[in-house]
Amino acid sequence: MTLPAPLSYPPPESLDPGSPWHARPARIDRVRDESADVRTMVLVFEQARDRRDYRFLPGQFNMLLLPGIGEAAISIASDPEHCSAVAHTVRAVGSVTHALARLEVGDQLFVRGPFGRPWPLEELRERDLIIAAGGVGLASVQAAICHCMTHRGDYGRIAVLHGAKTPADLLCRSDYGRWRDHGIDLHLIVDHAAPGWQGPVGFVPQLLDRLEIVPSETSLICCGPEPMMEAVARRSIAAGIDPDQIFVSIERLMACASGLCGLCQLGPFFICKDGPVLSYDRIGPWLAVPHL
Ligand SMILES: Cc1cc2nc3c(=O)[nH]c(=O)nc-3n(C[C@H](O)[C@H](O)[C@H](O)COP(=O)(O)OP(=O)(O)OC[C@H]3O[C@@H](n4cnc5c(N)ncnc54)[C@H](O)[C@@H]3O)c2cc1C
Ligand code: FES
Repeated sequence: MTLPAPLSYPPPESLDPGSPWHARPARIDRVRDESADVRTMVLVFEQARDRRDYRFLPGQFNMLLLPGIGEAAISIASDPEHCSAVAHTVRAVGSVTHALARLEVGDQLFVRGPFGRPWPLEELRERDLIIAAGGVGLASVQAAICHCMTHRGDYGRIAVLHGAKTPADLLCRSDYGRWRDHGIDLHLIVDHAAPGWQGPVGFVPQLLDRLEIVPSETSLICCGPEPMMEAVARRSIAAGIDPDQIFVSIERLMACASGLCGLCQLGPFFICKDGPVLSYDRIGPWLAVPHL
């Protein structure tokens, strides 16, 4: 699909590349359908300067901008050691994400970012890691998994827990072999089984019971729907993991992504700049407030 180009967009040379308003033009280089409503797309920046200078850390996100349609916050789901092309895994839920899902190889879009605080992977070196992801929340931890594979010797045991509605909704299925080859213990679960499914049926928090956790040596990073993250955090705390060793990525609606508009506010936090990654001891009390 080729989108109509607005007359005055983009202004790539008019803004400092460090400005949060600077939108980098990019083209879709590859797409991979993950499930009926989720697609991973690899973007390559059009400008040599962006291909050379753009950097991100695992857990950060971009604002993907389609002129005339809008912008959405989308996690960067690729290897942080290779920033000239970045991957985004998108579930089509609304106007922007449906339009993103219709893009084809060669189509143009614009990228603001990267934004937000990353997973604290440097601080977690030498610890056992549990990486828990519900649905498209896997996108937020994919770069962390890439980082851990590259620096495998720096971490203890690593378990990835991933849950989806049905087996057909499990994401990144073609990556599982590579994860296992790097000594990652992968556990999958689905809400509803399908013919041929031999794994467990239920929800991600139940997978924690399958792990041999040494609480004092374990940290957990988690992304998914907020009730799922709360349930994972509560079960981890019951297993003895410290709340300050549990990190969640909060996916609230965003507009400016720069701490200016307040749309993403949750309690005292502006999720776009104080998060999206926050430790559970800080954000847990606010997640527990209904309808906040
Ligand atoms: C830091 C961060 C990282 C994110 N990373 C990703 C990512 O990697 N991949 C991804 O697909 N999304 C991601 N999201 C979520 C994405 O930004 C939102 O879903 C966004 O609102 C989509 O914009 P839209 O215009 O398509 O939908 P909107 O017009 O904003 O919403 C349309 C409808 O869908 C509902 N809706 C919105 N979001 C969701 C949702 N997540 N699940 C179910 N229903 C929803 C709304 O309530 C509304 O009814 C992330 C959000 C944040 C804050
Ligand atoms: S999105 Fe505007 S303050 Fe966070």
